[in-house]
Amino acid sequence: MSLKSIGGSGIFMSKQNSPDYTVVRNIKQLATPITNGKPFLRGREMREIATVDNAALAVQSDTIEWIGRDTDLPYHYTENANIIDGSGLVALPGFVDMHTHMVFGATREEEFAMRCSGATYQEIAAKGGGINNTVRTTRESDKSQLRKQTMRFLDKMIRHGSTTVEIKSGYGVSGKDEVKMLDGIKMVKDDHLMNIVSTFLGAHAIPPEYKEHREEYVDLVCRKMIPYVAQKKLTGFCDVFCENGFFSLEESRRILQTGMEHGLTPKIHADELSPLGGSELAVEVKAISADHLENISDKAIELFAKSNVIAGMLPGVSFYLGHDYAPARKLIDAGAVVALATDFNPGSCMSYSVPLMMTMACTQMKMAPEESLTAATINAAAALKMSDRVGSIEKGKLADIVFLQMPNYMYLPYHYGENHVAAVMKSGTWLEYR
Ligand code: NIG
Ligand code: FE
Repeated sequence: MSLKSIGGSGIFMSKQNSPDYTVVRNIKQLATPITNGKPFLRGREMREIATVDNAALAVQSDTIEWIGRDTDLPYHYTENANIIDGSGLVALPGFVDMHTHMVFGATREEEFAMRCSGATYQEIAAKGGGINNTVRTTRESDKSQLRKQTMRFLDKMIRHGSTTVEIKSGYGVSGKDEVKMLDGIKMVKDDHLMNIVSTFLGAHAIPPEYKEHREEYVDLVCRKMIPYVAQKKLTGFCDVFCENGFFSLEESRRILQTGMEHGLTPKIHADELSPLGGSELAVEVKAISADHLENISDKAIELFAKSNVIAGMLPGVSFYLGHDYAPARKLIDAGAVVALATDFNPGSCMSYSVPLMMTMACTQMKMAPEESLTAATINAAAALKMSDRVGSIEKGKLADIVFLQMPNYMYLPYHYGENHVAAVMKSGTWLEYR
């Protein structure tokens, strides 16, 4: 047994040849939502964060074995172990980014410049930009190009503390290109340490070739794409962009119901740009999550409080597009389950930093730091049906833990624009950065 530290510059691992355990000692503070076996935390429960100062944790293979105060660490965990000094570091559950569109052909900085000069997201979309701009470049990219870029993004996301991410299709919007995207996601899932969950979003935009006969595209999604995707087990989730100019409430209902008939769990982009009623539809079809919600009605907030639909907050989009923020405070006060994600995509949020979203959640949506942590971990995991494995630091869960150089958990949303991640433990494997 040995314990080493490279003081000040991070942490150092001393290796045993075949250790039984990986143990991190002297952790300045460990902080995690307390689930008590619940799949998510709602309303007031979202503030229930447990902290242990001067903590230790023991991991066997990819699973958390023991957590507690360093002084209480049982001796047998130190006998044949790789031991790491966690001095000066805060340990948090790896972040769960429950909503991204990170597979795409090309970036859209020229649209960003147009927005800076006053053009709106909708105006740009109406001129053939927006989602259909990325549809063009994604169709032009082959699987290996998409794979290469996605792997790079995933590396950087882990560096920012995310250990589980959802990735949507939706920039193919043809049978062939949607399958290309979902296959590409499967490839990176096999090749990367990140936990990856895919979602079918064939109903992201009406493709240009169907502009004059949109109902035929909805038919294609329902009659061909959904049955194929489900039969080939390319994903377990079906999403739709329910919005004026994209998919109507009726079309969204049909698409989500068809998905359910084929065993796909519904998700929805709801009430982002206009109050179309996508939130009420989410409750009606028992969607696992409804995301955006910038224009959710008070009635729907009450419905969310009584249902298990997870409200996915994406403040990075409001920040980037200059729109109003979703009423996270009202949702939590009403008793809803609230999650947080980046929505990383080339048009409306070119950031994969979950900590930055936590800062926005606190400053712009008046969430408490504790609520932002719960939203970005256990509740986000529940939106991917993964909260039995990830989203909190508990015995028996996957050892997905992020170590940050800072004094306490509250510091994370407070000191923004800086990557505080010193190291990440992903499924028990150390990824060390400084
Ligand atoms: O979640 N709202 C719809 N889709 C994405 C935007 C995608 C894009 O602009 O490319 C979103 O914000
Ligand atoms: Fe989105």
